[in-house]
This record gives sequence, structure tokens and C-alpha cells, in this order.
Amino acid sequence: MPAKIIDGTKMAQGILAEAKALADNLKQKSITPTLAVILVGENTASELYVEKKKQAAESIGIVFDLFRYKDTVTERELISLINSLNYKLTVHGILVQLPLPKKFNVQRIIDSISPLKDVDGFTAFNLGMLAHGEEAIASCTAMAITKMIESTGTPLKGKNACIVNHSIVVGRPLSQLMLNRDATVTVCHAATQNLASFTKQADVLATAVGKPGIITADMVKPGAIVIDAGIVKVGTKTVGDVDFANVSQVASFITPVPGGVGPMTVACLLHNTARLASLQMK
Ligand code: GUN
Repeated sequence: MPAKIIDGTKMAQGILAEAKALADNLKQKSITPTLAVILVGENTASELYVEKKKQAAESIGIVFDLFRYKDTVTERELISLINSLNYKLTVHGILVQLPLPKKFNVQRIIDSISPLKDVDGFTAFNLGMLAHGEEAIASCTAMAITKMIESTGTPLKGKNACIVNHSIVVGRPLSQLMLNRDATVTVCHAATQNLASFTKQADVLATAVGKPGIITADMVKPGAIVIDAGIVKVGTKTVGDVDFANVSQVASFITPVPGGVGPMTVACLLHNTARLASLQMK
């Protein structure tokens, strides 16, 4: 039987509705949840993601404040902007779109964001909280993937999970979210030897590499849940890491690209923004 498709677009509507309800509630108290987004340099994929976030934010009444810089901006200028946003009571979430141009020290810039406004959960403080088992604010992509796995009704407890990505955006926070749910987690990356030997053991396989078709059917355990957070343009088509046509003959559940993790990530981001605004009110 072919795999069931986990419909990210549909799931995202539910999360956006929750985020809107939180935002509407705050507006009755004269607070308009506001997300400040910092975009540096020219990166076509980042421009597209930021536009998607803007459209979704505005569709549910969250203010989206974009700060655009050329890649000639200095680290000091970026940190100074972030400091001023940290103190601004009308800003509830701050997001630095990644990747930043190579000259920047990413963690130093991210760590200048107040943990209370760190909507991506990328600061050392929030990643540390996650490692302690506290899920106050966690990476939107990692949250999106976890929610999609949970939507299958299969608990992560006792499962073998394999993540192909070890960034602070996906792999590291996702490994913690899965550990918090008592999965046995293997994190693979570019230096992993014999990737298939790990993916084949996985009851749950999550990938975010950006190499179309890197996950083939022979690398997937029959009945596995396969979550594809890879996203690449090939000509005019958007594709993921997974050879969807063949892997969907082996897996029990699979996410499509597009229409999978992408829309869920945006929805989780806005949910995080509304939650941060509520927390700051308290
Ligand atoms: N680049 C790719 N995904 C993300 C994300 O979730 N947050 C940020 N800030 N940058 C990204």
C-alpha cells in the first residue's frame, strides 16, 4: 500500500488558526503581535521564504516588520539594530533570516537577540533550555517536523529516529525534541559514512539536506515515517531530498515537497510569535 501523505498545507491552517486566535485575544488587550525580520544580502531562496512569512503573518493580523540590509552592513550595525529591537516594547519576536553572508559570526549575532524575543529558538539560551528538556521556544522547522510525526498517531517513544542534518535550524533542535519524547536518535551529516546503514534502521526518518533524490527507496525501512524538509528549485519545480515516487511505495507516511514541512514551518513561526507576545505581556 502506498504511503499516506501528511498534508502540511492543511495542518498549517489549523496552527495558523490557533495563532490568529492568540493574536486576536492580545489585540483585545491593545497588543498587536509584531515580528521583526532581518534579511541581509541577496539570496533568492531567503527572499522567497521571507515573502511567504510576510504573507502568512499579515493574513492573520500579525505585524511583519522587515529590516533589509546589503551585505556591506557590519556585524556591529546588525547587533546594534537587534539591541534596539530587544528594548522595543512593540516588537515581540526577532528573526535573523539564515544563511547570513559568510563574513558574519552567526552565533554572535543570533545570541544578541533577547531569549524572550528569540522566535526561532536559535540562541544558546533557548537551545540550552531545549537540551534541558524545556520546550519554551524551539526552532519552527523542528517543531513543524515533530508535529507532523505526531499527526500520524505513532508515538516517538522507543522508536529509532534518524535525522539527516546537524544545523541549529533543524538537526540539533529536532534531535532534542525527539529525545524529549524518548526516541533513540541518530544525527547524520555530510561527514557520515555509509548514510544508508543509518537511514535503513529508522522508524522515523527526517531529512534536510537540499540534494534532490539523496534519499532513495532502498535507504528506507519498510513502514517508516519519512519527513522531507529539503527544498530546492530544479528548473521551475520545487523538490525535496526524497525520491518521492519510489519512497512512497515503501514508507507508511510521507511529506510532500512542496506542501509539506514548508507551510508548517511558517505556521509554527507565527504561533511562536503570538506565544512570545503573550509571554511578554505577563
Ligand atoms: N533559513 C532557513 N530556515 C530558517 C528558519 O527557520 N529561520 C531562519 N531564521 N532562517 C532560516
